[in-house]
Amino acid sequence: MKYLPLLALLILGCRESPRVDYTAEKSATYSTVAIAGPHPLATQTAEAVLRRGGNAIDAAVAMQLAMAVVYPRAGNIGGGGFLVYRPADGPAIALDYREVAPAAAHRDMYLDSAGNVTEGLSTLGHLAVGVPGTVAGIAAMHERFGSLPWAELVQPAIDLADGGYRLSEAEIERLKRYHDDFAALNEETPFNDSSRVAGTLVQQPDLAATLIRIRDEGAAGFYEGATADLIVAEMESGGGLITREDLRQYAPKWKAPITKEYKEFRLISMPPSSSGGVALSQMAEMIEPFPLSEYGFQSVRSVQVIAEAMRRAYADRAEYLGDADFYPVPVDSLLRDEYLLNRMADFSFDTAGTSAAIAAGNLPMKETFETTHISIVDSLGNAVSITTTLNGNFGSKVMVDGGGFFLNNEMDDFSAKPGVPNMFGLVGKEANAIQPGKRMLSSMTPTIVERNGELFLVLGAPGGSTIITAVLQTFLNVTEYGMDLPAAVAAPRFHHQWLPDEILYESDALSGGVLDSLKTLGYRFREVNSMAVIKAIRVLHDGRLQAAADPRNPDDDVAGY
Ligand code: GLY
Repeated sequence: MKYLPLLALLILGCRESPRVDYTAEKSATYSTVAIAGPHPLATQTAEAVLRRGGNAIDAAVAMQLAMAVVYPRAGNIGGGGFLVYRPADGPAIALDYREVAPAAAHRDMYLDSAGNVTEGLSTLGHLAVGVPGTVAGIAAMHERFGSLPWAELVQPAIDLADGGYRLSEAEIERLKRYHDDFAALNEETPFNDSSRVAGTLVQQPDLAATLIRIRDEGAAGFYEGATADLIVAEMESGGGLITREDLRQYAPKWKAPITKEYKEFRLISMPPSSSGGVALSQMAEMIEPFPLSEYGFQSVRSVQVIAEAMRRAYADRAEYLGDADFYPVPVDSLLRDEYLLNRMADFSFDTAGTSAAIAAGNLPMKETFETTHISIVDSLGNAVSITTTLNGNFGSKVMVDGGGFFLNNEMDDFSAKPGVPNMFGLVGKEANAIQPGKRMLSSMTPTIVERNGELFLVLGAPGGSTIITAVLQTFLNVTEYGMDLPAAVAAPRFHHQWLPDEILYESDALSGGVLDSLKTLGYRFREVNSMAVIKAIRVLHDGRLQAAADPRNPDDDVAGY
């Protein structure tokens, strides 16, 4: 069994990875611009663009393409993502460039003749791949908000692919872990040599050639012509579904973000096809009436309130959330004050709730692990929050032969069968069933927070289902528990996602006494090494920008000036 649910992956990760030092901080404070991201060469690329006079969107364009070269486990052109953008001089807006199911996809495509989900089919290999959205998304954000010429922003990635970059210890560890999958699914990749050691130079000429086509032809350099031919040939060689027409039809979508007031703060986050903004807003509003700062950080009461809010939000996620273009997602009802205030009515401090008792809420009406994140604030105060993904590490593990880039395994984010968990242990129903052209439900939560109308925080994370709860806790660590940003990002966290009915906690979270008290109340726990990996920027009182990356990823980095 190659693919295990998230919980198992996290525990395996615990054995394979060095222990995270949650007291370590990766942060710096800058006067003018700030960037937080998953790899130093990516943050340096963004910084160089800003120094040349580019804005936050220009920097994000160049950085995402650089990540596709130097951070191939999640940086991508073969995946998809979400942007939440708050221009200094206008309303916030979101861009959905999530992958979509190919036209030949169908609801039961991962079920065997007995109606059971076939292990691995939605996670590994060609059938797992959704139509990529990244290049169309990057081109759309550049066209609308960019200021420097497109070619100038693509060139740094070409240079990195052509000239090469040196593998870090963390990258070597991942590459070794997935070496057998690469070998089974690909004739060759630049990463197939398991004997590599940290510091090895990797050059990617096929990827450089693909990026040159993107530089010269824009999105058409990916969705049409030679790159499209290579993708379709790769699909045909491995039984995948994506056709030229699927590629030609792909379109990113501009959307209104989800917004929610919390005390003097305003959360601005991603609407469906991500569940991030809705679930984050729901949890925040369910928590707001409780005096968390009086209870104290990770006290019994704080953990109870937050975990019970998580449980309820994830129960709603499983029932109601999916691509709103295909299913009447009841966003307004899910975010209605009366609904959310009532949602905690059956909560008691005296005993643990149970997920069996917490079904999705009755709405008054029916309306409708590996990922990565970048946060950027430029000199004008434009703020970018982007989460982008191939889904699993290196996605489907299929690299487009001759194209030099990995394809996602995002199809696993659909509900292959009602009630059967995906690789993150998440369950779903009709709202997230597979349909041609539909976007699979995400947990990505690129978020921007205002305080009294002013830019305050930019944050987001990779981490599958744990993303939403990590963004929530980082926000609460700053606003309720008085932590500075680096401590808020590094602080160990916990996570409840309704099913399975247990609280995951990082090894340093929940001090002994708290854990025992919560167990006595009936809560079940599972210890994991680490969960989501936050990258955040905070605007300090004096206007300086504090950037904080996360000790959970050794390659996480901040930059600025
Ligand atoms: N692929 C992880 C997510 O979108 O939530």
